[in-house]
Amino acid sequence: MITGRTKIVGVIGCPVEHSCSPQMHNAAFQYMGLDYVYVPFRVEQKDIKTAIIGLSALNVVGINVTVPHKTTVLPLMNSVSEEAKLIGAVNTILFRSDGSLEGHNTDAEGFIESLREEGISDFTSQKVLILGAGGSARAIVVGLAKNGVKNITVANRTYEKAVALATEMSQKMKINVESIPLSDPVGMKRCLRESDMVVSTISAGMQADFKPPLQPDWLHRDMIVYDIVYTPLETNLLKMALENGLKTINGIGMLVHQGAISFELWTGRRPPVDLMREALLTALTRKT
Ligand code: ATR
Repeated sequence: MITGRTKIVGVIGCPVEHSCSPQMHNAAFQYMGLDYVYVPFRVEQKDIKTAIIGLSALNVVGINVTVPHKTTVLPLMNSVSEEAKLIGAVNTILFRSDGSLEGHNTDAEGFIESLREEGISDFTSQKVLILGAGGSARAIVVGLAKNGVKNITVANRTYEKAVALATEMSQKMKINVESIPLSDPVGMKRCLRESDMVVSTISAGMQADFKPPLQPDWLHRDMIVYDIVYTPLETNLLKMALENGLKTINGIGMLVHQGAISFELWTGRRPPVDLMREALLTALTRKT
């Protein structure tokens, strides 16, 4: 029950109607008996500064930030975590009681946690190919690099974006990040042969008719195929990998873990991750 004491957290985005984060967080609050409620706020780009000031004035505890606001809120923060700075985006805000705003990004660590729960904990010898060079790819490069991965290649449709990301991250993270065009079959084939894992961040992977930018015989038996998309849970890339007997990971784990880390930042409590995953899966099933 919402009372005068209930603390408020939430998400700002545009659109925000599709978000399943309210179901995921509210299930955890209820289970833990925490007097919090998680609310979606639809905020247009032109209103972002007013919204942030307003949420702070309303004594909201914290919010998640989603498309298209992740980069625009960064300069509005009083302090920004190292990871959020490296990624150049904020996905979680903590409104401190002294009125200051703390910006975090839980995507990188959420991605790493999703690998840990699959039993992957030694990252140092891994070679990883990332498909896509947008915001999610940035977070994944930061997460992998911070956890000891030395060899990363970014392949993107717009090659210049892959080059820019690789150059920036090589300098900032002091590791070797290479870039190739997604449409270069020779480069893709060679890179896949040498990789332990391929991670797709291609947003079009959500579409039923999306053709994965690789051939099944470019994959090898010992590699992991990870697609951060979670609607659908089984993208065409994962279908291809499964048909070839490869280990696959879908986007649910990253979504749950980035949320769990935000939850902990706001409440100081570790949430029940499996319960959050169940709530999310139920919400996603209802939507489709
Ligand atoms: P996110 O924040 O989820 O990473 P994004 O920043 O919009 O989203 O990035 C989406 C990524 O998917 C980009 O790398 C994009 O490639 P471009 O840089 O060439 O636009 C990639 N992408 C989207 N649709 C694609 C498609 N049909 N084929 C290949 N790549 C695609």
